[in-house]
Amino acid sequence: MMQSAEVRPESVPAVTPFETALGAEVSNIDLSQPLSADQFAVVEQAFLDHLVLVFRNQSLTDEQHLAFASRFGELEEHINKPTRHEQYEKVQVFSNVKADGTTLGVHPERGTLVWHTDKSYIATPSLATVLRSPAIASEGGDTLFANTQAAYDDLDEATKRRIAGLKAVHSWERSREKVGERPATPEQIAAAPPVEHPLVRTHPVTGRKGLYLGNHASHVPGMDFEEGVQLLAELERFATQDKYVYRHKWQVDDVLMWDNRGTMHCVTPYDAVKEKRAIHRVVIRGDRPF
Ligand code: OGA
Ligand code: MN
Repeated sequence: MMQSAEVRPESVPAVTPFETALGAEVSNIDLSQPLSADQFAVVEQAFLDHLVLVFRNQSLTDEQHLAFASRFGELEEHINKPTRHEQYEKVQVFSNVKADGTTLGVHPERGTLVWHTDKSYIATPSLATVLRSPAIASEGGDTLFANTQAAYDDLDEATKRRIAGLKAVHSWERSREKVGERPATPEQIAAAPPVEHPLVRTHPVTGRKGLYLGNHASHVPGMDFEEGVQLLAELERFATQDKYVYRHKWQVDDVLMWDNRGTMHCVTPYDAVKEKRAIHRVVIRGDRPF
């Protein structure tokens, strides 16, 4: 059959899993262009299989970033006004760089320096988060990811039985207190009152079970407060052992996305006086954990 010169075979994205417990790089792809249904299907399957995806050398505009993220679902609003992009309300900017090019001297959001899973303090926490990196720190500022499904699988049977059916209360107010961040305002507390989620959540698409914990988790209802805090801390230590972790070392123009339904993450410290680090962030709405 004749093919006209301008019809080019479409490129097939290549997925290279990392040797760590989660994560894969997707190459042979240009996220600045709309993906075809077939290309998107490869990315979506890789996302479900590996939970964290890395796309290198993607020099995107905020509009292209938004367009790519919206292929995965509805984008979330951001209540936190100071970090909202001035022009694009669904883009958040986590940056220590001021308009005059000097640094703030501090990392913009202390809550990201400890293990957490995004927005677990609301009833329907974020499905996925998609970041890009206009500026990176030369040392530190890595993002760590823990595979909470692999960790759950490895728990001994007695622990699995002990935690089956337990819930945790996730609280924005408590989470801010724990990291010494600006206290939650009454409006924020009203907008995000404490919420209970199962300690073991089932991924709605893959059916895999995973621990659902992190800094927003406060205590275990029905259990002595301190005992619940200890249990959560113990499970978090277990789930964040090196064998469950991928460390992302940023390059400029990376796009990094992850599945909040089966992972926790945190940023490692860096010198926020000397180093400039700017992350643009778009978040996809999720469902109620079960
Ligand atoms: C986030 C987050 C990590 C980072 O965007 O949810 O925790 O590397 N950020 O800045
Ligand atoms: Mn986060």
